[in-house]
Amino acid sequence: MTTNELWSHVKPGPPDAILALSEMYAKDTSEKKANLGIGAYRDEHGKPWILPAVQMAKEQLIKDPQANHEYQPIAGFPPFTAAACRLLFGEDAASIKEGRLVVNQTISGTGANHLGAVFLHHFYPFPNGEKKIYVTDPSWPNHFAIFKAAGLKPELFPYYDAATRSLAFDRMVAALQNMPDGSVVLLHACAHNPTGVDPSESQWREIAEVFAKKRLFAFFDSAYQGFASGDPAKDAFAVRLFESRGDIPMLVCQSFAKNAGLYGERIGALHVVTASPEQAEAVNSQLNLITRSEMSTAPVYGARIVAKILTEPELRAEWNRNIQTMSQRIIEMRHALFDKLTQHFKTPGTWNHIIEQTGMFSFLGIDEDQCQRLVSEGHIYLVKTGRISMAGLNPGNVEYVAGWIDKVVRERANL
Ligand code: LMR
Repeated sequence: MTTNELWSHVKPGPPDAILALSEMYAKDTSEKKANLGIGAYRDEHGKPWILPAVQMAKEQLIKDPQANHEYQPIAGFPPFTAAACRLLFGEDAASIKEGRLVVNQTISGTGANHLGAVFLHHFYPFPNGEKKIYVTDPSWPNHFAIFKAAGLKPELFPYYDAATRSLAFDRMVAALQNMPDGSVVLLHACAHNPTGVDPSESQWREIAEVFAKKRLFAFFDSAYQGFASGDPAKDAFAVRLFESRGDIPMLVCQSFAKNAGLYGERIGALHVVTASPEQAEAVNSQLNLITRSEMSTAPVYGARIVAKILTEPELRAEWNRNIQTMSQRIIEMRHALFDKLTQHFKTPGTWNHIIEQTGMFSFLGIDEDQCQRLVSEGHIYLVKTGRISMAGLNPGNVEYVAGWIDKVVRERANL
């Protein structure tokens, strides 16, 4: 077979729904262009931000002869995994104190979702043998790709109500109650991606009751801890509630891409809560076997940075200020966009959802055609579901973006 014959049947796949937008944005020569596609923090000038806490950690690391480039244990850089689980579950978490929590360093949140899914595929007793994972409708597009690649079958369950632009709480709970006992369910720990709509604390309590009653397995994705509200404990409410009850089987995928601005360093962890130190040892050993076959050991640089910013008091205090800066700027931009639409342009419709949603994204409630016009005519890059990254807005572009939203909304309504 010639090389030509060998690959002639391979056709290009579809572009990535989120990452392709950044490429289009980079090629666009318009001075007005705005990148509201990828969820990556930008400062008030639209530039990437190296967190000062991270910068301080990097400066210390470069001078530290102990910070060598040796292989790490398969489960990851120990100071990182020890600090990461305390950030997530709290210093007093029973599963940590009792030695029944397993933590494995991963290639950011994507790697944690992957490792968790592969582990469940091998070892979880799925009801009726069907390897299903119930995923919020909608969810981060990559969840579906990751779970399918790991051999799981993602199936949607109600989460978001498009008519009211809020949580479809009753339908969500009814769906959970109707799932086979022991089903695996993906939950976003906070700052739901893409909708920005989270359950309230009392709703989380009700959800936890259903999980316990039905022995549902909680597969948490925690990508925005501290980034959403500026307070890591507040953003970990759901994870800590589920863990502290002790009657809900669970794992948590953790990412430091957003809350430490370490997007490209790919630093994260998978946390599996087990019932005993013996189980923890066995689960850890199986996770290590998967990791060894896929990447041997995780990269250490991001892990060293995160371990420092979480454990050294001066750096931790700086990081606390940095997450406040990021979350506050995003909240300010929500208000700025809301004000421009409601007061400046008097855009038809209701826009309260923009200030009620939380975290990196706003789900605008405009349709695919309207999004397409924003991209092709307005040079405003956003996901075709109407999700915008609030971090892409700044005082210099918010009126321009609001103007285009106003235009496509009015033209649709013939106003
Ligand atoms: C996003 O949803 O934009 C981010 O989580 C980046 C990504 O990897 O998709």
